[in-house]
Amino acid sequence: MYAQMIKSEATQDDPALLEAFQARIDDNQKIEPKDWMPEGYRKTLIRQIGQHAHSEIVGQLPEGNWITRAPTLERKAILLAKVQDEAGHGLYLYCAAETLGVSRDELFEMLHSGRMKYSSIFNYPTLTWADMGAVGWLVDGAAIMNQVPLQRTSYGPYARAMVRICKEESFHQRQGYDIMMKMCKGTDAQKKMAQDALNRLWYPSLMMFGPSDKDSVHSEQSMAWKIKMNTNDELRQKFVDQTVPQAEYLGLSVPDENLKWNEEKGGYDFSEPDWSEFYDVLKGNGPCNTERLNTRKQAWADGAWVREGMLAHAAKKRIAKVAAQ
Ligand code: 3HC
Repeated sequence: MYAQMIKSEATQDDPALLEAFQARIDDNQKIEPKDWMPEGYRKTLIRQIGQHAHSEIVGQLPEGNWITRAPTLERKAILLAKVQDEAGHGLYLYCAAETLGVSRDELFEMLHSGRMKYSSIFNYPTLTWADMGAVGWLVDGAAIMNQVPLQRTSYGPYARAMVRICKEESFHQRQGYDIMMKMCKGTDAQKKMAQDALNRLWYPSLMMFGPSDKDSVHSEQSMAWKIKMNTNDELRQKFVDQTVPQAEYLGLSVPDENLKWNEEKGGYDFSEPDWSEFYDVLKGNGPCNTERLNTRKQAWADGAWVREGMLAHAAKKRIAKVAAQ
């Protein structure tokens, strides 16, 4: 429906302008905020960057939950830094979205009213310390797989935000894997916790790449505009191929009895996630949807006095400036 709307809007634009725009994209030129762009391109970017920004800040919640319970001071400091990084990623991305003419208030309103999504993965709970390892290893690992190509995306402010974000995500992935290594070399109980975390987070991590290509609504147009550089299935396959040997190194088993190396395709065959679960989570019925959204809404309400104070201060300064003229 949305894709149809975007396509019809794009054809309403001047064909000569559209052609010139597509030629710039095909020539790998960056589109900058003041350049002409089709309305559908702008809207798709706002949707994707906004959803991405929301994922960063909602993504703080499952890990923030463990800061006070981290097992050592060092682990606490690392986790704290990681969670702060995610807030920074959210800010770069909100700034990139703002260059497209949407305000941050509007973006938050869309998140809070459920009109804008955030990544499905953050609607799952983090039950044990091993989940901090699995989130860093799998969730940040999947995020990097998706985001490294986005450094070459056609919209300049988004591409540049991704460069910094990817550097930090790579540190996040390593700290997660480091936790998993410690757990797997620890007691039997610790290794069991690590296996349990992998069992619970494997399929939700595969879902992060979005529905399979045949069901993806936006991929075709987004790839033509280089807003997306790969299809959902391409990235999911790369993620599985990269992650399975890492699980083997840890001595853990991936919870998929159909997992098998396929010599011919040079990659693993693997089971698809349960897509009905994915769509159910998107509809708001995941284990933590309500909790996550309520926490974000509460944070927005708690920050009202700061916003009001800053606006009052700005107004006072404006009045003082006019009076002095
Ligand atoms: N969670 C929630 N919604 C999802 C989703 C997911 N994992 N995957 C797809 N969807 C939604 C889409 O938004 C779309 O819904 P909409 O039309 O209402 O917006 C619908 O499902 C159909 O999917 P499509 O494949 O057609 O959608 P896209 O072309 O937008 O592809 C995507 C989905 C691959 C996630 C793409 O948007 C993308 O690459 N986004 C940028 C990266 C991003 O947002 N990453 C978030 C990961 S978490 C993170 O980065 C935090 C880090 O700290 C770990």
